[in-house]
Amino acid sequence: MKVSPMKSFLIDRYKKGGALRLGEMSEPKLRENDVMVEIHAAGVNPVDSKIRDGEFKLILRYRLPLILGSDLAGVVTRVGSKVTRFSPGDEVYAHPGQDRIGTFAEFIAIDQANVALKPKNLTMEEAASIPLVALTAWQVLVERANLQKGQKVLIHAGSGGVGTIAIQLAKHLGAYVATTTSTANVALVKSLGADVVVDYKNDDFEKVLQGYDVVLNSLGKDTLEKSLGVLKPGGKLISISGPPDPDFAKENGSGWLLQQVMRLLSSGIRRKSKRRGINYSFLFMTANGRQLGKITSLIEAGDIRPVMDRVFPFEKTNEALAYVETGRAKGKVVVTVK
Ligand SMILES: NC(=O)c1ccc[n+]([C@@H]2O[C@H](COP(=O)([O-])OP(=O)(O)OC[C@H]3O[C@@H](n4cnc5c(N)ncnc54)[C@H](OP(=O)(O)O)[C@@H]3O)[C@@H](O)[C@H]2O)c1
Repeated sequence: MKVSPMKSFLIDRYKKGGALRLGEMSEPKLRENDVMVEIHAAGVNPVDSKIRDGEFKLILRYRLPLILGSDLAGVVTRVGSKVTRFSPGDEVYAHPGQDRIGTFAEFIAIDQANVALKPKNLTMEEAASIPLVALTAWQVLVERANLQKGQKVLIHAGSGGVGTIAIQLAKHLGAYVATTTSTANVALVKSLGADVVVDYKNDDFEKVLQGYDVVLNSLGKDTLEKSLGVLKPGGKLISISGPPDPDFAKENGSGWLLQQVMRLLSSGIRRKSKRRGINYSFLFMTANGRQLGKITSLIEAGDIRPVMDRVFPFEKTNEALAYVETGRAKGKVVVTVK
């Protein structure tokens, strides 16, 4: 079959703050379990800039040039010989997996196990905003924390990409939800269902909140350590912004040296957590079409809705990344591809 070139935003080498190059790459190869998706919209995440900067070079071994982009919504155009779950014409969305990123492009090949049908009530742009952050929220709150009805959870940065979905998922699970945000976003996080909002411009969350079962941390070291004071003994401190711990190193298949580095990086917070009877763990989200399918149902039932900040045209992908890098996005930023 003829392979045509496709437009994509890529990097030729890792460079902090470097611009992505608009270039032509050949259409990806379709493996037997893959679906080929024509991308209509791609979500932008902080991880895209971090990969460009080279922050993940040690744990994610990419070949360069590399097309960036970790979220998509689009239409299936072809399927591999062993694909059973999807057909050409299906409207889908996905996080393609950390080892197969590349959604700032016209086409992508993705393993069918990582794909789900797009929620019918969302536009392509809205759908593209969902997979990475919703899978993260699911894997923290449902899988790792096993959050139960009536339990108390603190979700930091409630107005961000992860926070806006995590608040809604935690409320759906029946939890009592506290969140942190700045004054300008208090109304937004309340509208998503937060029971307690700590405006970090006026209050210190660690002085206001006590007796929590779970904290989802997506902020820095200072917030991570202060979060220990909010949790009750037996509580779970789950961080998605580091530091990585030895269990993650093992799951990730890191070699001995990298395992020791991660052990060292997290030794302080693990020691402080243990002293208080709290369980610290780091979580790095993974692609999962089955979980994304459950998220589709929650969106179609109206339990979770996307929060969109800005939509950029494809040629302004660099501006979209720069906007997310300000750290001030309210919900999600998306690029329209088609
Ligand atoms: N490990 C994983 O698998 C994984 C998965 C997803 C994300 N992450 C990481 O998690 C972090 C968050 O991701 P994201 O997509 O949610 O980012 P994001 O959408 O860019 O977050 C922006 C939001 O953060 C809020 N914020 C910034 N500083 C804050 C503070 N001190 N207290 C409370 N809120 C604050 C901002 O609200 P204000 O403007 O009101 O301050 C803004 O709404 C990133 O570092 C990302 O790389 C990791």
